[in-house]
Amino acid sequence: MPPKLQRTIYTGTFLSTPSLDQLQILEFHAVGVDEDGIIRHINTHIHASQYPNTGIIGKTTLLDWLSTYTFPLESSLSSLPKARLVYTACITRTLSHGTTTASYFATRHVDATNLLADICLEKGQRAFVGRVCMDNEMNPDYYRDESPEQAISDTVATIAHIDSVDPTHELITPIITPRFAPSCSSSLLSSLGALASLTNLPIQTHISENTSEIALVSALFPDHDHYADVYEKNGLLTPRTVLAHAIHLSPSERALVKERESRISHCPVSNTSLSSGLCPVRELLDQGITVGLGTDASGGYSASILIAAREAGMVSRMVAHLTPEHPDDDAKGGVNEKGLPVTEEAVTDKEAAKYSTSHKDRKKLSVEECLYLATRGGAKCLGLGEKVGAFEVGMEWDVQLIELGNAADGGGDEGVEGGDKGLVELWGKETWGEKVAKWLFCGDDRNTRKVFVRGRLVHERR
Ligand code: GUN
Ligand code: FE
Repeated sequence: MPPKLQRTIYTGTFLSTPSLDQLQILEFHAVGVDEDGIIRHINTHIHASQYPNTGIIGKTTLLDWLSTYTFPLESSLSSLPKARLVYTACITRTLSHGTTTASYFATRHVDATNLLADICLEKGQRAFVGRVCMDNEMNPDYYRDESPEQAISDTVATIAHIDSVDPTHELITPIITPRFAPSCSSSLLSSLGALASLTNLPIQTHISENTSEIALVSALFPDHDHYADVYEKNGLLTPRTVLAHAIHLSPSERALVKERESRISHCPVSNTSLSSGLCPVRELLDQGITVGLGTDASGGYSASILIAAREAGMVSRMVAHLTPEHPDDDAKGGVNEKGLPVTEEAVTDKEAAKYSTSHKDRKKLSVEECLYLATRGGAKCLGLGEKVGAFEVGMEWDVQLIELGNAADGGGDEGVEGGDKGLVELWGKETWGEKVAKWLFCGDDRNTRKVFVRGRLVHERR
């Protein structure tokens, strides 16, 4: 385990998003951190194994992207030296972008998955590590589990390894990982559900990302009501389940996800990169579903969770653009009388105060909301809501020290002749809210000076 810190008092301005619509700014504040340890960023869905492919998408969409780029790369991680290179680079990069916690998909290889857990532990990143399960003929011959039994025994081997290196899961937690329904036999899905119930471990998978994928699920699982029902009937919709994407869920699927208290990882960069669709995040939030953010690298072109937060804002503006003015039109689904696209969601409570701002505008996520999804929302998704994600007594010191107003977010004068110097003057006149907005939309890893997890310094930019 990482070394414990001395008792430390940190002073400065502290930013956090205690609730969806609140940006808390504590100026001239001091926080005491005990021997044991904010804006910390949480990546609820990322494929560490796909890190070398970030930015490589071509013109593919989900299913041909998997066969063209993803399966060949993942399969090559049977080589442990290669896996070490890839996983070290991925963890180093995500830490340098301020990701204090990540929920990782590895590959189907036990040794390489165990290595991912070891490197997270060594580098001090809080992580959920999943050995990817995929046993049916939809997967290529060169990269699939031989049988449900082998997939389960390999998963158990990874759980046992993580239990041996971090017995209390203080930093690393195993996560049960069926790749997605089309990759798994019913027998494997039900065995994984049983394993989750036996171990009370979290589960991660994909759902309703792409319309061809949804059609495949209904062909492969004809006896089920819908995609979510496949997970439901196999014991995989639990309060510890993180469902990535969830773009095209029907109202009854959403109601089921809400009832089971399963969580959703919104992956806006990936959804745009693979042209999977526009996730109606406001509807999910209005329904009371817990939502966090994932980069889904390499479906997403970047492993930066700050970029995912930015894209969440931008995608929500596209959703607003495609939303009719009036909730009644929105409820119709498909297109309205004028042939313009409307979202599927049924709006039942049009008189409610929540429509006091325009129906279209409500679809837009604010700066506070984007940052909330990347921090506290993510913590709640992963069952860490009591542990990290706010500056509260008893919580662990997972934080990021951000320097605002430098070259990265347009405020500095490093190496740029003329203009930027004037901006420094202007900077003094900006409110904290404006500075934070600039960081969200214009910042990058140059703003991230230090990153702490459980009180340990895990990244420093010099
Ligand atoms: N569905 C099944 N596998 C994957 C994957 O690796 N990435 C994404 N984005 N979706 C998937
Ligand atoms: Fe994914």
